[in-house]
Amino acid sequence: MSIPIHTYDAVIVGAGLAGSAAARELQKSGKKVAVITKLHPLRSHSGAAQGGVNAAFSAEDSVELHEFDTVKGSDYLADQDVVEFMCKHAPETIRWAERMGAAFSRQENGMIAQRPFGGQSSPRACYAKDRTGLTLLQTVYEQALREGVDFWDEWYAADILYKDGKAYGVAAFNIRNMEKAIFNAKEVMFATGGYARSFKINSNAHANTGDGLSIVARHGLPLEDMEFVQFHPSGLSGNGVLISEAARGEGGRLLNSLGERFMEKYAPNALELASRDVVARAIIQEIREGRGVGPRKDAVYIDLVHLGKDLIMERLPELRDLAITFLGLDMIKEPILISATAHYSMGGIPCDVDGHVRKNNTEFVEGFYAAGECSCVSVHGANRLGANSVLEALLFGRYVGKAMVKDLDGIELKVATQEDAKTMLDEVEWVLTNNGTERVPHLRTELQQGMTDNAGVFRTHETLELQMKNIADLRERYKNIRIDDKSKIFNTELQEAIEFGHMLDYSLFIVKSALERKESRGAHYREDFDTRDDENFLKHTMGYMDKDGNIDLEYMDVVLGKHELKARTY
Ligand code: FUM
Repeated sequence: MSIPIHTYDAVIVGAGLAGSAAARELQKSGKKVAVITKLHPLRSHSGAAQGGVNAAFSAEDSVELHEFDTVKGSDYLADQDVVEFMCKHAPETIRWAERMGAAFSRQENGMIAQRPFGGQSSPRACYAKDRTGLTLLQTVYEQALREGVDFWDEWYAADILYKDGKAYGVAAFNIRNMEKAIFNAKEVMFATGGYARSFKINSNAHANTGDGLSIVARHGLPLEDMEFVQFHPSGLSGNGVLISEAARGEGGRLLNSLGERFMEKYAPNALELASRDVVARAIIQEIREGRGVGPRKDAVYIDLVHLGKDLIMERLPELRDLAITFLGLDMIKEPILISATAHYSMGGIPCDVDGHVRKNNTEFVEGFYAAGECSCVSVHGANRLGANSVLEALLFGRYVGKAMVKDLDGIELKVATQEDAKTMLDEVEWVLTNNGTERVPHLRTELQQGMTDNAGVFRTHETLELQMKNIADLRERYKNIRIDDKSKIFNTELQEAIEFGHMLDYSLFIVKSALERKESRGAHYREDFDTRDDENFLKHTMGYMDKDGNIDLEYMDVVLGKHELKARTY
């Protein structure tokens, strides 16, 4: 039976802030756009962003300071031309969202309120209480719908149509009933989000399984800077659910079992508002040295009691609810338990400022674009500043959408055929019929535990080598899986098996890239190479997966600029 082929000008995978913003731009310019999303758009992980979105527009702040903080936060690995672009366009992007209806929290004088965040010289994070991402996502999705974008909700994009250096669509199935379709287009954009689910303790949604990255890598295209995984300092103890940096921005203090405000030792000036990598390492160090708290002594306290009920209820209501729901602790009355949680991935699908996806260091894939967390543009380098991610997704989503409009007429449609669905059909058939003995949830738990233990906040040659072996072993065992659900209706067992294959592939990129980066920079901390080595490693990692699933690494120059290399202290 033949599979329907739907033809559009552009097909976008992912309906979070980046995907929806790009779709809105394209459709508004009269282009015909499909957005393929495995969730309902409003369940995209952009909606979980709590604390804020950066833009320098207060009298005390400046675009140049925003640039400087971002470059310093990145441990000088960010490409400075892209940082300049982002910081320059940030204020106008906030106004754009506001004028479309995003209801930001306000100061008494009616101006948009801004709160301090880590690593920033000035209060710069605009916010909507502690629901900033959700507010923006609702606004942008609503406006994309209003323009007439076709959202294909609960469709799983299983492969990209890619041949001879050109992308021309995706193959997807409907999660509700396993109906298959090919989406053929002149332009394809991936906005598939983050992928921290491969760590045991993480702040990510269940959907953040890195599908986009592994699909790209399986076609021999590169992934950039995959070793840089951000651990947010404050995830709820035991499950990693995010307690926004807004909690520290509003004045929260971190305490160890001796009641010490331990950040005084690690970042005497910025204290709890040092950049995330610094604070996360400090927390884990306190726990390692026996000053942890909680039943397992694997947490520290964040104390917000002194802020008072009114401020907490006004600015942090969601955080309070989360701590009550998951830990039974009320931050109005008592300190709550937190620890570092895998939160964000700086690496991803390499692209330029217009979202054009790189084929290698010098060439680009025709008709292929990426934006948001799945991409590496590289604006965050080795460590992202809080509230720069919502900005990146919104801003680059919008601008990549504009670039796609500009490029579109110069691109010829490569017409899809039934053959283009073969990889997807083979994969689905294999998962449904493979009759092995291994179970995906068990394998996934092993992957997550190993990634946390061996490729987490602290890494060494030995732990990374061990994790390389673990993944090789898990890949062998994955060949021997079996699922029980053979049905066509919401077959989540099938979907999770496919997703786990993706998790294995991109995890190998993370570990291999970390193993070969013999220095410490930003979120990548090697105990056996504990300083930054600009002479040998001021460069981006470009990883390529070969046909046998091995990863080869090459390197690419960093774009330097006016912000000169310095030692990074807070
Ligand atoms: O802490 C937070 O609210 C997270 C923000 C971010 O990751 O940018």
